[in-house]
Amino acid sequence: MKISVKVPATTANLGPGFDCLGMALPIYNTITIEETVLPGTGIEINVIADTQEADELSLEHIPLDENSIVYKAVELLYNSIGQTPSELKITIHSQIPITRGLGSSASVIVGGLLAANELLGHPADEAALLSIATEVEGHPDNVTPAIIGGLVLASQEDDGSVLYRKLDWPDEWQITVCIPDYELATDIARSVLPKEVPMHDAIFNAQRLAMFVQAVNTKDTELMKAALHDKLHQPYRMKLVPGLEKIMENLKHEENVLGCVLSGAGPSILIISHKNGVDKIHSIVKETWADLNVKAEVKTLPIEKNGAQIIKQDN
Ligand code: HSE
Repeated sequence: MKISVKVPATTANLGPGFDCLGMALPIYNTITIEETVLPGTGIEINVIADTQEADELSLEHIPLDENSIVYKAVELLYNSIGQTPSELKITIHSQIPITRGLGSSASVIVGGLLAANELLGHPADEAALLSIATEVEGHPDNVTPAIIGGLVLASQEDDGSVLYRKLDWPDEWQITVCIPDYELATDIARSVLPKEVPMHDAIFNAQRLAMFVQAVNTKDTELMKAALHDKLHQPYRMKLVPGLEKIMENLKHEENVLGCVLSGAGPSILIISHKNGVDKIHSIVKETWADLNVKAEVKTLPIEKNGAQIIKQDN
């Protein structure tokens, strides 16, 4: 049997929601798992890039053996029912830019898990899948919207379970994703974060996150402008993302811009704006990065309301 799963990209944190807010976006990876017929062939993992040249280089860094995150996720699922995976061919068709803060690793974990779950006859329910995916990824803010779709508030509880709620993103707010041509691995972006933060910074984020949820629920633009700030991760990561500070500065006085934040661990940047004025935002971002010799792809996208979908099942 052969199962394919199409999984959306995700943007996490959205400013104040470090490790708890995430949103699905309409860029996709497709993960296919096939049981191979020949015994003793073991696990074969292939990655095929459907995107630009730069990602060919990133692909070289992806482990294609038992160290791969997709293998780890699949193995945990098999282990949860007392089995070990063997004789599997896993193929990843990659359109989500890698190491850019757009949830490419979450998509691979989720795709592998959902495909393996289908192959095994659904031993795991949604809660179990979320819990395994979060264990492999380390935080729930990318894997949850990758499975569920939409804008999601998620937490990992002490017993490893994931508690989540979907929020309704206002249609009148636009999302612009700015993807530079340089990479930033999440483990490096997490290594610069302090173990402890000052109380006033924690209070700042608690205030902004509460504002964010209320602003989304009531479509309150002024509140959203106040909400889209962070003191828990962005200030520490600023030095790893050349151009971020300048882009924030250059967009500060743009009337239609509600906020500019790091997408996940970066280096991509997310800009939230009103429907008008998107062209100006694109040119400000591109010009700012061009001054630093950074090429960038800038896309205004709708939110992806659906999560991962099983799209093919051949017998
Ligand atoms: N919340 C995570 C981080 C997302 O910011 O490190 C990583 O993709």
